[in-house]
Amino acid sequence: MRREDCDSTGSDTPGSGRRRRAHCGWSWAVPRPPFRSAAGVAPAVPFFLPCAGPSLSRLVRLAMAALVCTRWLPRSWLCRRPGQGCGRHYRAALCTTLKQPLAIEEVASRAVQPHEVRVDVHFCGINFADILVCRGQYQERPHLPFTPGMEFSGTVLETGADVNTVKEGDCVIGVSILHGMAEECITDQKNLWQVPEKVSLREAATLPISYGTAILALEHRAHTQPGETVLVTAAAGATGLAVIDVATNVLQAKVIAATGSDEKCKLAMQRGAQFSVNYSQGSLKEAVKELVGRSGVNVAIDMVGGDIFLEALRSLAWEGRIVVLGFAGGSIASVPSNLLLLKNISAMGLYFGQYKQENFTVFSKSMSSALQYCQQGRIQPHIGAVFKLEEVNDAFLHVIQRRSTGKVLLSLK
Ligand SMILES: NC(=O)c1ccc[n+]([C@@H]2O[C@H](COP(=O)([O-])OP(=O)(O)OC[C@H]3O[C@@H](n4cnc5c(N)ncnc54)[C@H](OP(=O)(O)O)[C@@H]3O)[C@@H](O)[C@H]2O)c1
Repeated sequence: MRREDCDSTGSDTPGSGRRRRAHCGWSWAVPRPPFRSAAGVAPAVPFFLPCAGPSLSRLVRLAMAALVCTRWLPRSWLCRRPGQGCGRHYRAALCTTLKQPLAIEEVASRAVQPHEVRVDVHFCGINFADILVCRGQYQERPHLPFTPGMEFSGTVLETGADVNTVKEGDCVIGVSILHGMAEECITDQKNLWQVPEKVSLREAATLPISYGTAILALEHRAHTQPGETVLVTAAAGATGLAVIDVATNVLQAKVIAATGSDEKCKLAMQRGAQFSVNYSQGSLKEAVKELVGRSGVNVAIDMVGGDIFLEALRSLAWEGRIVVLGFAGGSIASVPSNLLLLKNISAMGLYFGQYKQENFTVFSKSMSSALQYCQQGRIQPHIGAVFKLEEVNDAFLHVIQRRSTGKVLLSLK
């Protein structure tokens, strides 16, 4: 599905380059003026340059200059780092206020540092976690303004002097907490992996977070074995379908997909699940018991939290393993530890991104495995929707309102 019907506006402001903003029914705060001047580099606002000498009038002039800057310059420009301003500009989604729609603005390119790579972004994945970051509800809270986007695919435009892992023209995928939702992204070489020839950039963009997480949850954390039964909640979402794909097609496990609607259950079955349960229509635990008997499932991967987590925990077999991935439902359950004891159960968490800092080898292996499985045709990512950069707020709503299935992408081309 390609969405073309966003009511985004594009306006040319006098003496400026163009700025665009996507509107999705949310209110906009302070309108800000053009970023680029007609010449394309300097901001088209008057500057009051202070003259020498510590006088009252100098202080007044300084205060006026500061006022003009903060009132009339976009924050993206105010937050430029030294070395920026090499004349190039690119469009980026910008979070300037938490819990408000993102703005689409033209921002100035900066020079790459020796260890950095400039990537021409083709696709950026939209993750539930991106929305949490833009609401200030994620583990990591970046300073405003920022460009969200944790995963992307693209081609290398430029490399810093010390870069030896990729070269100009290479197709790559990248993972970092921010910066992906832009036409151009500068990132450390450690955040990039080369995409093999057989894998398209569109497909590659679906891999980093969803498949990296699915692989680490099933292989590294739960040690899922062939023939075991895996219960996965939010199973028709991006990570959910990745779990089904890896569990069935790589690990030869059987999957019970648990989702919030019959349509999502149907999709999960089409994508390889052996059974499905609609948890909006009754007890998940009872439904699982009907499917597999009293023995239960070997592995549960939970992304919903609250009562769904507790029912998944109660559905586990002897020596079962449950991996907590998230709390999409909004509530965090406490673990009744007696249940762990009675059936020798292991309850564990997985924070995928943190492996980059804590155990880069494991993190990098999950990325290489995802790319390799994809190249070998063992996994087939499901792309539910592709939005344009201007439609980023529509894309967020699509996910927030539980309408999305599989991976939602932003196309930057
Ligand atoms: N720990 C990690 O490293 C890691 C990595 C990736 C993702 N995650 C987490 O895993 C979860 C899914 O991520 P994703 O990117 O796969 O998201 P997604 O594709 O948007 O899937 C989210 C799904 O959660 C379910 N859900 C249940 N209650 C919900 C609610 N109140 N609001 C919205 N959705 C609700 C919905 O499925 P139903 O309608 O079928 O219930 C929805 O489709 C998120 O909590 C995310 O933070 C964690």
